[in-house]
Amino acid sequence: MTPILLLGAGRMGGALAQGWRDAGAFSAADLIIRDPHIDPAAFAGARINPPLEALGAAKTVLLAVKPQIWREAVKDVVPHLAPDAVIVSIAAGVRAADISEAFCGRRVARVMPTTAVSIGRGAASIHAEDPEALARAKALFAPVAAVAELASEDLMHAATAVSGSAPAYLYAFVEALEAAGAAQGLDAADSARLARATIIGAAALMEQSGEEPAELRKQVTSPGGTTAAALGVLMGEGGFGDLLPKALAACVKRSEELGG
Ligand SMILES: NC(=O)c1ccc[n+]([C@@H]2O[C@H](COP(=O)([O-])OP(=O)(O)OC[C@H]3O[C@@H](n4cnc5c(N)ncnc54)[C@H](OP(=O)(O)O)[C@@H]3O)[C@@H](O)[C@H]2O)c1
Repeated sequence: MTPILLLGAGRMGGALAQGWRDAGAFSAADLIIRDPHIDPAAFAGARINPPLEALGAAKTVLLAVKPQIWREAVKDVVPHLAPDAVIVSIAAGVRAADISEAFCGRRVARVMPTTAVSIGRGAASIHAEDPEALARAKALFAPVAAVAELASEDLMHAATAVSGSAPAYLYAFVEALEAAGAAQGLDAADSARLARATIIGAAALMEQSGEEPAELRKQVTSPGGTTAAALGVLMGEGGFGDLLPKALAACVKRSEELGG
């Protein structure tokens, strides 16, 4: 399945290259990279922006440019690809049928990853109609992510909302927690240190214990206690139960719009 052509090596392309290297899955020597503004030092050992004729060697093409420019980015490349090259796209919202058409009917898989692939702790939602494309996408992402195979392409919008975009929700939560702690009188640096360590520890405990989040929540919530008072706000009217469905609906809508 190598060489892998990375079309776009920004945040996500770079995160993948780092994760693959650290996991021993693929090395820089397995990569051909096409990106007009790349930092060559970050991809030492890869073939960077070779002549277009060299792209015919690629067995797998990872489409990792912004959805808004994907058509422009693939135009010059397509005529030089091998007919049996398999396309794996991480472009949010862009439909497999449109990608396959732009790549002259080549097989396509879609993946929605998270940036923690850089540390081998990503999540990746995968869908492909073609079995070989599905296998290729799994081979790319299983070394660096927990993989979920989606039954239909339409579910990719929901997977984007619950996974691809969700790390930002957590970071926004931590920002707000830190600010609220400081507003309660904590030194800002103490509030940041406490908030971050608490969230990281709570997530690690959820992983290591294997307990349901609801169970873990109950374990730390005494009836009538301090945590219950806070959860009354967070889980009450206008709280998570109202906010997250709205947030995910906005994400799904935008994903559908980007798909055009
Ligand atoms: N970041 C995430 O958390 C995340 C999660 C899931 C999926 N995705 C998907 O991953 C894709 C890439 O996102 P990203 O965050 O990595 O974006 P990004 O950081 O902007 O990376 C895209 C890269 O492509 C380069 N590029 C621009 N025009 C190009 C061309 N014609 N040919 C080749 N490369 C070109 C960009 O260069 P310039 O910066 O110079 O324009 C940039 O380095 C998007 O489709 C997004 O939907 C991202």
